[in-house]
Amino acid sequence: MKKYILITGGAGFIGSHVVRRFVKNYPDYQIINLDLLTYAGNLENLKDIDTLPNYTFVKGDITDSDFVNKLFETYPIEGVVHLAAESHVDRSITDPASFIRTNIFGTFNLIHAAKEHWKGAMEGKRFYHISTDEVYGSLGATGLFTETTSYDPQSPYSASKASSDHLVRAYHNTFHLPVVISNCSNNYGPNQFPEKLIPLCIHNLQHNKPIPVYGKGENIRDWLYVEDHASAIDVIFHNGVNGETYNIGGINEWTNIDLIRALCDVVDQQLGRAQGTSRQLITFVKDRAGHDLRYAIDSSKIQRELGWKPSLQFEEGLAKTVAWYLKNSEWLENVSSGAYEKYYEKQYHQR
Ligand code: NAD
Ligand code: TYD
Repeated sequence: MKKYILITGGAGFIGSHVVRRFVKNYPDYQIINLDLLTYAGNLENLKDIDTLPNYTFVKGDITDSDFVNKLFETYPIEGVVHLAAESHVDRSITDPASFIRTNIFGTFNLIHAAKEHWKGAMEGKRFYHISTDEVYGSLGATGLFTETTSYDPQSPYSASKASSDHLVRAYHNTFHLPVVISNCSNNYGPNQFPEKLIPLCIHNLQHNKPIPVYGKGENIRDWLYVEDHASAIDVIFHNGVNGETYNIGGINEWTNIDLIRALCDVVDQQLGRAQGTSRQLITFVKDRAGHDLRYAIDSSKIQRELGWKPSLQFEEGLAKTVAWYLKNSEWLENVSSGAYEKYYEKQYHQR
């Protein structure tokens, strides 16, 4: 009997890497990818695996409780890896309501459906909620987020993720739902929507457009290559302990301005431009409202207890990422123009 695993948000940036990894590494699993295909979801991200027999795509909305319940009735789902979310801080400032709907109500629908359908048969089941380090708030110059750091979210995005984390923990405490949670730092790599810093910069540099640096560029983020996040998710899904939280990070802190300068140099090198050309496009713009100063993760728990650590050095990851976007400039143009919707029509509407 195949084991049915539901992955939500699998057409998005991180989700597509997780779906590919699970489909390829676990032929005994039937992977159900549930995604609404919002602006951030793109089936082109998965076209290399979408005809494999252990992969099924379902278009649907996690905020629709009838739909979510029907999904649990249709498939004998034994595991959930929940990534579907509104994920961009800037959008949460202009449109917080969609973050409340998807990240809070959507997570509630999923976890409640899992509880109802797994009632009396929790053995072997697992609900894995993917979260962010942003729930811990903003650090000063020193210190690291550990799994016991108090929640102190500062943006509508991080507040909605914090709320969903609390709900998931509450379902573990109250109903003994077998859950695990992980909180990860900033991801980078192929297939990231070009509203986020790194793909946005690469896209603009390709078109000789200004690179918008918020404030003075002094904010610090810890960056992790997306496939390293996918490998951590694999390890936690299979070996994590129910009720536990795991922090995931790259041990790789950069101020935005230093990161952008490094990125400019990699782009110049790969495009054969004179060194320093791209840096001239750096432009300081108005700061983000409530901009968190610093995120930094202590990932010693997952390293010690589950034997995971990042595999890629940042220089290598950045070079791979730039090379991917330059090679896949069509992907970048398509997601920017919305033309990928045509791919969806062609690929799935006639089936
Ligand atoms: P993303 O925005 O690229 O993808 C989100 C996916 O969810 C998209 O495919 C979208 O279509 C889908 N989705 C949105 N609303 C939906 C709904 N109502 N029903 C079904 N599907 C819906 O996001 P991402 O960067 O890949 O992040 C994935 C998860 O990882 C999120 O939960 C995010 O909070 C978390 N996370 C992200 C980062 C990061 O650096 N990107 C870091 C830590 C944690
Ligand atoms: P982002 O990729 O949006 O991730 P997050 O806000 O979740 O950390 O932004 C990363 C950092 O880069 C953050 O400090 C905001 C900054 N930033 C810019 O300076 N300019 C930009 O155009 C964007 C999108 C982000």
